[in-house]
Formats: sequence, structure tokens, C-alpha cells
Amino acid sequence: MHTIIWKLMNIEENVSLKSYNTFGLDAKASIFVQPKDEKDVSKLLQGGLLASERFFILGGGSNIVFVADFAGVVVRMANKGISIVSEDDRRVVVEAQAGEVWSDFAWDMTRRGFYGLENLVEIPGCVGAAPVQNVGAYGVEAKDVIKAVVAYEIATGCKRIFTNTDCKFGYRDSVFKNELKDKYIVFSVMFELHKDRTCTKTDYSAISNGLKERNILSPTPMQVAEVVADIRKQKLPDTKEIGSAGSFFKNPIVGEQKLELLMKDYPTIVHYASGDGKYKLAAAWLIEQCGWKGKSLGRVGVYAKQALVLVNNGGCTGSEVQKLSETIVADVENKFGVRLETEAIIVK
Ligand code: EPU
Repeated sequence: MHTIIWKLMNIEENVSLKSYNTFGLDAKASIFVQPKDEKDVSKLLQGGLLASERFFILGGGSNIVFVADFAGVVVRMANKGISIVSEDDRRVVVEAQAGEVWSDFAWDMTRRGFYGLENLVEIPGCVGAAPVQNVGAYGVEAKDVIKAVVAYEIATGCKRIFTNTDCKFGYRDSVFKNELKDKYIVFSVMFELHKDRTCTKTDYSAISNGLKERNILSPTPMQVAEVVADIRKQKLPDTKEIGSAGSFFKNPIVGEQKLELLMKDYPTIVHYASGDGKYKLAAAWLIEQCGWKGKSLGRVGVYAKQALVLVNNGGCTGSEVQKLSETIVADVENKFGVRLETEAIIVK
């Protein structure tokens, strides 16, 4: 059976994943496959390769740490295309295929006057990963604009359309990371965007400050996107120059009692109400207080401008990243009694 798909599809063996993960980790995949359309996905699933081998579905590789070589199949969606599904005077539904580069898509929509993605420009990765991670930045999350997700069930090859509710979105979380983990391949995502330029969200303080500095009172979404791109440039490394996986940890969520206890010892602890009586702590602040900002362990460092980001100082391995991550988690837990969870996915 396998030989059939082998012949039908572009399947490679022993491929370095270095250029397929933004941390620049030189791990190898024993089998690497890049489906570029529905036919390729069907062939891959019907051929049974994913049923018999260990597999990993890779997006833009911007949130992944390969700790070692991957003995199995790495599937990287390479399908491209953006199309308008429906449109009226106020709204437009756009379908983007999983292999599209997220930031190019977000800029493209903003330029075309389709609004909702302007706060999400410059996030590394591809469209297919957006619903899995529910990517977010500057007061907007992918869940605010996703209308539906088209995905293939790995076991049966059947196509299913998930509504926004079906996706069970949470903070950097969705059904695809929980009960349906490794059960579906995201093929495309439908976004509902609006044409009313006054709907743009500017309440995140970094954005409102950026607009004030530029004396912009009623910003266009394009101006918001430009401010966001500027803030990201100042705070986050350009993954083309410095290897990283963006925010390495999630901001931990604590109850009111825990926050009160922490505030007794650390009155300046950075926190935000996150709804239902809970509070989000700024993980970057916790890490900085532990003295890690700008520090390194071997060839992996904590970015000097944003303590939530781990960076490759040159030639680091996944196990070095894991070591630093575990050390930071232990230090934060010892000091604050709060356990950080990684946002980056560690593949062993
Ligand atoms: N802070 C520090 N030290 C630092 C950096 C930040 O103390 O080194 C404190 C500051 O008080 C700052 C606060 O933390 O005001 C929040 O910082 P920031 O606005 O940079 O946001 P974040 O919570 O650290 C999250 C996302 C980012 C996203 C920004 C902006 C997570 C895990 N990360 O970071 O997402 O760009 O908000 O919305 O939620 C990513 O996921 O890869 C990512 C970059």
C-alpha cells in the first residue's frame, strides 16, 4: 500500500527540518511529505501511511521545538490559495488554504479593505496553524474572525467543516489541541472580515500609545497594522535573523486568592482580569523578576527585549532549549508558586 502513495506523492526521506522551524533546529524527519491540494491529502490518508507510522502535522514551524530527530512522518501542508466565498456591503467571507503564510495573508486582507486581521500582522507561521493555536496579539485572537475550519479526518479521510463553536477556542487553545489532537488535518480556514474601517480594535495599551505618539486620532486598519508591525519589531526578534518560537510560555491564569497572596509580596506584579474572576499574569514579568531576561544557558537565551521569548544564540539544539525552558519553569515556580506552561510545542 505504502509504495503506491510513495509513487503518487512527493515524499522525501531523511529531511532536515532546519528551514521548516523558526527556531532553526537541525532535526531530521525520517519521512517528509508536503501535500499541495485535496488530491494529495486524500492520497496520503487513503494510503494509510499516517495510520501505521508516528506522525506530526507541521504548520509554519513557528511554535515548535524538535528535541530530537523525528522517527516518523512529518506532514507540512503546502496548499495555497485565497478566495472570496461570499460578500455583501458590510462583510466578506474569505477562505485561505492552510499553507498560506499567515502574515502575508493578514497584510493582504488589510490592504484590500477587509478588516479584522490588522492586529495580527507579522505573526510568524501559516494559516493552517491559526485555528489550532488560536493565535492572538494586541487584543484580537483568531477566534474573533474565524467563521469555519475545513479539515480532513486522518482515520477516515472524510472532510468536515467545523463551525467557530465546534472549534472550542480558548486562550492559545482549541479542540484540535485537546480531544481532536492528531485526529484532523486543517486544510483551509474561512474568515469573516468586515468592511467598516471604524471596527478596528485599538484598546491594547501598546497600540493606543503608538497611535498617540503618531497623533492619529481615528486610525485606519492599515495604520493599526503599521503600529502593530512597529511594536513587534521593537519587542520581538525577526525569526529570519534570530531563531525563536515567539512567546515560549503562556501567560498563567490564577484565581483571586492566589493573586492577592502574590500582591502582598509583589505589589507591582503585572496582571489583567481574564474573566470569570480569574487573572492572567504576565509570564514575561515573572521570568524577568527571576533574573532571566537577556541571560543565556549554553546556546539558548532569553530575549533581551521580551522575556517571554527564547532565542537561538547560534547552532543550539532542541534539548538545550528544553533545558533552559525547564530551568525557567522551576525558577518561576520556586519564587512565585506559579507553574508556567509552554506555548511552544515540544516534540520529543
Ligand atoms: N513585561 C515584562 N517584561 C518583559 C516583557 C513584558 O515585565 O520582558 C510585562 C510588561 O508589563 C508588559 C506585559 O508584560 O506590559 C505584557 O507584555 P506584552 O504586551 O509584550 O504581551 P505578553 O503578554 O508578554 C502576549 C502574547 C504575544 C503577543 C502579545 C501582544 C502570549 C503567550 N503572548 O505577550 O504573542 O504578541 O501578548 O498581544 O499570550 C506569541 O504568541 O508568539 C506572541 C508573541
